[in-house]
Amino acid sequence: MAIEELEIKDQLGYRYMTEADIKTVLEIETLSNPFPWTEQNFIDCLRKDYYCLIQTHSDGISGFAIQSIALDETHLLNIGVGSNKRRQGLGSDLLEKIIYASEAMGSNKIFLEVRASNVAATSLYLDFGFKQIGIRKDYYRLPEGKEDALLMSKSLKKDWKNRFFNN
Ligand SMILES: CC(C)(COP(=O)(O)OP(=O)(O)OC[C@H]1O[C@@H](n2cnc3c(N)ncnc32)[C@H](O)[C@@H]1OP(=O)(O)O)[C@@H](O)C(=O)NCCC(=O)NCCS
Repeated sequence: MAIEELEIKDQLGYRYMTEADIKTVLEIETLSNPFPWTEQNFIDCLRKDYYCLIQTHSDGISGFAIQSIALDETHLLNIGVGSNKRRQGLGSDLLEKIIYASEAMGSNKIFLEVRASNVAATSLYLDFGFKQIGIRKDYYRLPEGKEDALLMSKSLKKDWKNRFFNN
């Protein structure tokens, strides 16, 4: 790992998202997706008590991730890092935290959809051991037309008890 990467990761913090964060989160989202989530989409996630994580850096919010954890399955719904902060390990750190939370809350598997042309996100997921398990035809709306989603999943560790107990 490069020295610069260690330094930037040292400055990272995490907390739960609030409605006051949505303005900044929307700025990241709007620059990230051809058909971005709306403010209401984020509000709905908060009201549904989804796992809505904010990543902070010395100069503010650097990223966010939202997942729905239901029984033993997690669905990663959205993840994004500010465009000026990418390729420095922040997305990996965020995904690591998301996976840890899913495991700690008893999930056996994490699922996600990603736009077929989204090389950055797909590469990140493959690095973390996600496997492509299917394709959802025309899943995403684009400003013009539609795009397929790759459905990916990763099996999680079943050792959540060891995270809390020594016996
Ligand atoms: C996907 C995303 C979160 C990655 O964040 P990041 O902070 O740049 O990721 P990292 O720096 O931790 O990169 C980890 C790995 O992901 C892959 N990766 C990241 N960006 C990439 C790019 N532009 N092209 C190819 N691979 C890329 C690489 O394998 C990289 O490892 P490396 O830097 O050692 O080569 C970021 O690009 C993003 O916010 N994109 C827009 C939102 C989005 O597409 N979300 C996914 C919705 S499904």
